[in-house]
Amino acid sequence: MSNNSIKNRIEELREQICYHERKYFINDQPEISDQEYDQLMKELERLEAAHPELVTPDSPTQRVGGETTLGTSVPHREQMLSLDNTYSPDELYDFDQRVRKALPDQPVAYATELKIDGLGVALLYEDGKFVRGATRGDGEYGEDVTANLRTIRTIPLRLTPVQPMPTVLEVRGEVFIPRDQLTEVNQQRTAEDQAPFANARNAAAGSVRLLDSTITAARPLDIFIYTLGYADGIKIAKHTEALTLLADLGFKMNPHTEAHSSIEDVITYCRKWTTNRETIPYDTDGIVVKVDSLQQQEILGTTAKSPRWAIACKFPAHQVTTRIEAIEVQVGRTGVLTPVAILSPAQVAGATVTHATLHNEQELIRKDVRVGDMVVLERSGDVIPKITAVLTDQRKGGEKTFRLPNHCPVCETSVQRSEDEAAVRCVNVGCPAQLKRHIEHFASRNALNIDGLGPALVEQLVEDGWVRDVADLYALKQENLASLERMGEKSAENLLNAIESSCNTPPEKVLFGLGIPHVGANVAELLIDHFSSIDALADASTEDIESIHGIGTQIAESILYFFAQPRVQELLKRLKDAGLQWAVVPDKLAGTSDSIFAGKTFVLTGSLSTMTRSDASKKIKERGGKVSSSVSQNTDYLIAGEAPGAKYDRAIELDIPILTEEAFSEKL
Ligand code: IVH
Repeated sequence: MSNNSIKNRIEELREQICYHERKYFINDQPEISDQEYDQLMKELERLEAAHPELVTPDSPTQRVGGETTLGTSVPHREQMLSLDNTYSPDELYDFDQRVRKALPDQPVAYATELKIDGLGVALLYEDGKFVRGATRGDGEYGEDVTANLRTIRTIPLRLTPVQPMPTVLEVRGEVFIPRDQLTEVNQQRTAEDQAPFANARNAAAGSVRLLDSTITAARPLDIFIYTLGYADGIKIAKHTEALTLLADLGFKMNPHTEAHSSIEDVITYCRKWTTNRETIPYDTDGIVVKVDSLQQQEILGTTAKSPRWAIACKFPAHQVTTRIEAIEVQVGRTGVLTPVAILSPAQVAGATVTHATLHNEQELIRKDVRVGDMVVLERSGDVIPKITAVLTDQRKGGEKTFRLPNHCPVCETSVQRSEDEAAVRCVNVGCPAQLKRHIEHFASRNALNIDGLGPALVEQLVEDGWVRDVADLYALKQENLASLERMGEKSAENLLNAIESSCNTPPEKVLFGLGIPHVGANVAELLIDHFSSIDALADASTEDIESIHGIGTQIAESILYFFAQPRVQELLKRLKDAGLQWAVVPDKLAGTSDSIFAGKTFVLTGSLSTMTRSDASKKIKERGGKVSSSVSQNTDYLIAGEAPGAKYDRAIELDIPILTEEAFSEKL
């Protein structure tokens, strides 16, 4: 074949494959068999492998493995606004009034859509080819997530030509994970000892913001396009017309959009979906009402954040009623006893719920919760369920009040009830339940970050007597671990390595890991920033500690009480001897003018692939920088690893420069 005919064949194959992908993934009407599709794809792959110079990013072979551009901020063609919310369909009358007041004597038609619960994105097409995808960010600038969006099969890499064809087109849509698939992803994450996603939104955002697009490709992501952002040379009068055009161009549109000429019909739509939302396989958190005429939209205009021509009516939280079968008592890390309701298994928002915390005894009394009561169980977007009401009128007489016991249910020691605190505590420092929770806390991500040391292993280590306090972890040997159930040689070695590398954890994390009551991660950081070492803190007076802005008497007293205990002093000595970092490493490189780190405050989010977060912190500090746990105006850089969290959004909001792991490593 001549070079030209190869080029033509490649182009022909791409057109055919894109057409069949659309038929299969978007229209749900495949015209060829899977084998025929695979053959086309194989032929294209073969030709491209032989002619790498002819590979283009919009080729269907290029969906996975594209180079990441995460961390780059890109401008949106048009600002990406958010929506005003209402929480009851009746409030839509007020919206309608406002709209009509601005459009006197004009008929108003509305488009109603489902509000998909996922991640909003903008897709840019040039000459019909997908060139860039970005998150919403601050509305003006978003984060470039092109490589990851390309892996989503329902995002066309090439558009179906229409007449006239816009040369530049920006559309907006919502990336989501269908409910069943989210359950599967979470089951897999739990099996791999990773925290499950709290809700569909986090799952979508976490998957689109990964640094490795091959991981995104394995996530069951989908998209619905909900609006046309910008299209040159296109004249359209209505939003619903734009949606038809988008469907013609090959985008995946939600089939439940409707047009209405009265607000009553809009309210009927809203009520219908409030009850029917479980019948569709993806999560929605409300409906969106939009004035259909684009000319009327223009007259109505926008406020700084949201259009006056659209509104979201949020669905109420999912609620079910179920029975409290029993109340159990859990003993926490600091000995606090927490009542937990054991429920008749209830299906709520796609999950089976069997437990719900009742927080503390005062809450139990205030709500008059009794064993045997029927209760209202609620889950909003999130995974953690709440008991929001007790159905006292359904009592039959056999329900039993419950009070926390006078003895710890695990070690039998008498509990202490303080007057000012709601808490009831087991004060036995040797209580095995407290010890287990304490070790779990010590090993957790924000503390010593010992990978692989989860609750099941902690249980075995304590029950078999290998670990009696956290310092014992540093004396563990391969042969001790070999005797544990389900512990292979490799896992034992990994665990010992993880324990050893935890010795590099910076002192504020060690301090947090010690589990001093009222000393959370932020307070620990403030304390180390001020005192520079755990020893200096241990020697400090209440006044010294209270002199730190943001730290009050309760925290200071808790710290003093903690360090005064001989048992604690002995434990700290052993931890220090084990090699844990007790003090801030002197600012070796601080002040060197070529160091971007000197005097700068960094925040880390997401996981890094070439180093642990504590290694990264250490390196920053060695170079004279500071590491903070939360993003604020004072943050100079955010370092974003894989699956960055809310800090990322906050950094975008505050316009704080973001470094990818690669950029960070280079600067090191
Ligand atoms: S329209 C100016 N329509 O909800 C109008 N948004 O706070 C912009 N969303 O960021 C939004 N489904 O990511 C619109 N059918 C829908 C939507 C939708 C989900 C998201 C979107 C936006 C957020 C609104």
